[in-house]
Amino acid sequence: MTSVFNPRNKIIANLDSVLPLLRGKNPSPVLIEVDPSNACNHGCYFCISSYIHLPESKDLETFDRSVMKRDMLMKLCESFVKMGVKAVNWTGGGEPTINPHLKEAIAYLGQHGVKMGMFTNGTLLDKHDLFETLVDNMSWVRFSIDAGTEKTYNSVRRSRPNQDWNKMMSNLKRLISLNKEKGNKIDIGVGFVITPDTYGEIIDYANTFKELDVKYCQLKPEIVNIEREDGVQRNVEFWEKVQPVIEQAKQILGDKFAINEYKLEDLKNDPDFFGRVYKKCLGSQIQPCVGADGHVYVCPNLRGYKQYSYGSLKDSTFEDIWNNVQFREKIMYNIEEVECFSNCTQLCKPHESNKMIWEVRENLDNEAYMNGLVKQFESSDIEHKEFI
Ligand SMILES: C[S@@+](CC[C@H](N)C(=O)[O-])C[C@H]1O[C@@H](n2cnc3c(N)ncnc32)[C@H](O)[C@@H]1O
Ligand code: SF4
Ligand code: SF4
Repeated sequence: MTSVFNPRNKIIANLDSVLPLLRGKNPSPVLIEVDPSNACNHGCYFCISSYIHLPESKDLETFDRSVMKRDMLMKLCESFVKMGVKAVNWTGGGEPTINPHLKEAIAYLGQHGVKMGMFTNGTLLDKHDLFETLVDNMSWVRFSIDAGTEKTYNSVRRSRPNQDWNKMMSNLKRLISLNKEKGNKIDIGVGFVITPDTYGEIIDYANTFKELDVKYCQLKPEIVNIEREDGVQRNVEFWEKVQPVIEQAKQILGDKFAINEYKLEDLKNDPDFFGRVYKKCLGSQIQPCVGADGHVYVCPNLRGYKQYSYGSLKDSTFEDIWNNVQFREKIMYNIEEVECFSNCTQLCKPHESNKMIWEVRENLDNEAYMNGLVKQFESSDIEHKEFI
C-alpha cells in the first residue's frame, strides 16, 4: 500500500475525474469538505478557522457561528448521492460534532456508499452518542490533539471542564475499543499541528499516543492563515529547530509516525512562493467546501468570504450551484487572473493537488508521460484514495 498522506499519488488515483476536468468537462467533486458547524467548543489559538469563530474575531465580517440546520444538511447529502460524490470530510469551520443532526447525515451517506472521514477534537462524541455511527460508517476519524500533556492541551485549546483532555482521552479510548470489538472497521488516528507553542510537546505526544491502539500519529506543520500574523509562515530557523524533534518522534513512533513532509519541503526550499508554481487552482475544482452558513466555497481556506462563494444552499441545491459552471469560472478568474492568488493562504489544503494537476495539464500532449500516468492509475492500490 502507498502512503495515505501522499496527495500526488491520490491525484493519479483519481485520474478518472482529473482528466475530464482538464478536458473541459464538469465532473462531480471527488471529495467535499463539509462544515456542519462554525461554532466550536474549543478555542485553539492557531486555528485555521480563527477568523470565523474565535472570540477575538467577533468584530470581523467573517465571524459566523452558524450550525447547519437539519433540512439543509440532509438535502445537501441527497445531492451528493445523486451526483456520485465519492467522499465527504466532516470538518470545520468549527467542531463538526456540535451539530445535533450529524449522526443522521453520517448514517444516510453511509447507507448510500459515500465514503467519509472526520476531523474532530473528540470531546463531544459522547454528547450525541456518535461512537457506533462512526465505526459503522466512516473510513477514518482523526482526533486533533496538538499537545502532549493535559496542561498544555487545556491551555492551547482553551477548553472548558468536561470538554478537556480527560474527556478527549476517554472518548478516544472508547472509540478505539468499540472499533476493535467490531473488527477494526475504521482507521482512527491522532493529529498534532506543529506551532511555536506546541512543538515542545512533540515527544510527550509521541510517547503518550504510541501506547494507544491508533493507526497513526500525524505531525502537521502549522499553516499560518492569512488572517493571523499577516499570513507569514514560520521561518526556516523555526523548522530547523523542529527537525531533530521530529526525527526523535519518528524513532519513538515507528510505523505509527506520519507527517505531511511536502509542506516542510516547500517551507524550507521556497520561502518566497512555497512552491506555488501553478497558474490555475484546479485542485479546488474537485474538492470544494460547504460552509455551515450554507455557502458553497471554492476551498476550505476561503470559507467564510462571500466573494469566493459559488452560491448559497438557501437559494439553490448543491447540484445546481455546481452545474453553474459559468459563475464558478468567474469566481476562479478573479482568484487566478485578477488577484493572482494574493488572498490565498500559502500551503493551502489543495496546494499539493494543485501542483500535481498543473503538471498533468502541462503534459497532456506528452504521450510518454500520459501513458505512464494511466499505467500508475490502473495499478493504483492507494488506501483512502478519495480523500485527496
Ligand atoms: C479547523 S479543524 C476543524 C475540525 C475540528 N474542530 C478539529 O479541530 O479537528 C480541521 C483540521 O485543521 C487542523 N488545523 C487547525 N489549525 C491549523 C493550522 N493553523 N494549520 C494546519 N492545520 C490546522 C486541525 O488540527 C484539524 O485537523
Ligand atoms: S477544535 Fe478545531 S475548529 Fe475548534 S478551535 Fe481547535 S482547530 Fe479550530
Ligand atoms: S487558497 Fe488554495 S485552494 Fe483556495 S483558491 Fe487559493 S490556491 Fe485555490
